[in-house]
Amino acid sequence: MMNIVVINGPNLQLLGSRKPEIYGSETLKSLQKRLEAVAKELKVKISFFQSNSEGAIADLIGSSIENGVDGIVINPAAYTHTSVAIHDALESVGTPAIEVHISNIYRREEFRRKSLTAPACIGQISGLGTDGYEWALRAMVAYLKKQN
Ligand code: DQA
Repeated sequence: MMNIVVINGPNLQLLGSRKPEIYGSETLKSLQKRLEAVAKELKVKISFFQSNSEGAIADLIGSSIENGVDGIVINPAAYTHTSVAIHDALESVGTPAIEVHISNIYRREEFRRKSLTAPACIGQISGLGTDGYEWALRAMVAYLKKQN
């Protein structure tokens, strides 16, 4: 069974109450439940990780191979724009990753327009709200099926 991990970076534990005009009103718990249903439909294993710590995210990515992870869906949140460590972790393991942003990072402040992590991913979804995670999960499963 394909094994997908969904990683959320800093402040995304506040989803639902954090700037709902930008990030919507769905909570992380509700989003994860929704993704679990999609994973069931697609017959893949899914797990979730959220951390406000860059090192913890790099550690988790670094253990992808030993954890038998086939694909990563990641919203690095603010670390998108700053983290060489998360970029390098993704590149080091080589596990395919899709980057998700709830908001459209290209139509917000200038400092959000650059992603350091996207070049280490196979693709990026930005601006489609929390639904973007579902599209990323479906895209990842389709990508992995084509690889096999
Ligand atoms: C975000 C966009 C980032 O710029 C921001 O720091 C976040 C969330 C998004 O999902 O739209 O925390 O990654």
